[in-house]
Amino acid sequence: MTPTPRPLGTTGPLVSPLGLGCMGMSALYGEADRAESIATVHAALDAGITLLDTGDFYGMGHNELLVNEALRSAPTAAREKALVSVKFGALRDADGGWSGVDGRPAAVKNFAAYSLQRLGRDHIDIYRIARVDPDVPIEETVGAIAELIEAGHVRHVGLSEVGAATVRRAASVAPIADLQIEYSLISRGIEDEILPTTRELGIGITAYGVLSRGLISGHFSHDRELAPGDFRGMSPRFQGDNLRHNLDLVEQLRKIAEQKGITVAQTAIAWVLSRGEDIVPLVGARSRDRLTEALGALDVTLDAGELAAIEEAVPAGAAAGARYPEAQMAHLDSEH
Ligand SMILES: NC(=O)c1ccc[n+]([C@@H]2O[C@H](COP(=O)([O-])OP(=O)(O)OC[C@H]3O[C@@H](n4cnc5c(N)ncnc54)[C@H](OP(=O)(O)O)[C@@H]3O)[C@@H](O)[C@H]2O)c1
Repeated sequence: MTPTPRPLGTTGPLVSPLGLGCMGMSALYGEADRAESIATVHAALDAGITLLDTGDFYGMGHNELLVNEALRSAPTAAREKALVSVKFGALRDADGGWSGVDGRPAAVKNFAAYSLQRLGRDHIDIYRIARVDPDVPIEETVGAIAELIEAGHVRHVGLSEVGAATVRRAASVAPIADLQIEYSLISRGIEDEILPTTRELGIGITAYGVLSRGLISGHFSHDRELAPGDFRGMSPRFQGDNLRHNLDLVEQLRKIAEQKGITVAQTAIAWVLSRGEDIVPLVGARSRDRLTEALGALDVTLDAGELAAIEEAVPAGAAAGARYPEAQMAHLDSEH
């Protein structure tokens, strides 16, 4: 059965209630299996997932080429329904390092030209800068995307990891479909100011890190070995005592999941789905098994008692450690 779609804000497209985040198929979570990645995209499309999220800097173009290959080899009907959301702006070096952000209008148009080529599409459905360029007013970056929309290369403007004030500034330039931002049982920072602002302005949320990058999926463990370059090797929440504390929270969640006959990951995803029709979780499944598990969350309804039990098991602010290393936290407009 096709899952009931959710609108991305008042001006964005209707999308499947879960999106597939493709990042981990190219970068940041260790080695990925290309054939399995493509099979996972196909399985997602087959299950009615219409939103695919990528970034031009995920594996320096690797992820967009992968999405292209997956869509090209998918049935025509599924390919035509797919919406591709692309992030740009992060600068890389030849060693894979990160060297800042570029949100200048000419750079935006340059990034878009390369993305269109790599994706093999004549337009990008939602286009957003991954992090605000501190040297370029957001109005200029969003203005450049608005020009790309006028020229037919992009359909909608999105935002990523910005705070309420920046959301308002961006929305004064062009309609914004969605804000992509971390939101999960253990990352609830958007609830105070950002979510009320997006709701006031009719902007949707695409929530990432719904499983906190696997930490609250129920599959992570103390002895999990991480490959060099795996984001989790540097993430404060995955270190030493923080990891122990956070995995203890997961065990509390597991008790509730087991009582309901669902998995921990399904509980965490269903909780985000329950937070509002304006929120679309992006799940970072890299295999068909993980995808099947994530899709199972769409059949879960949490009643008031279950929601209360979940919040008691994992109260807001319960996680140990920040969601990014300190240097990266400094680049998050959403945290200032
Ligand atoms: N705008 C931004 O700043 C930003 C930042 C980060 C990500 N994103 C986007 O959001 C997407 C999702 O983020 P994320 O990958 O960090 O999210 P996530 O869904 O919280 O974490 C994904 C990881 O969780 C593990 N996992 C365990 N069980 C799973 C299950 N049933 N389904 C899915 N994953 C399961 C997998 O790790 P193993 O495969 O190792 O088991 C997977 O790599 C990304 O792909 C990217 O497109 C955006």
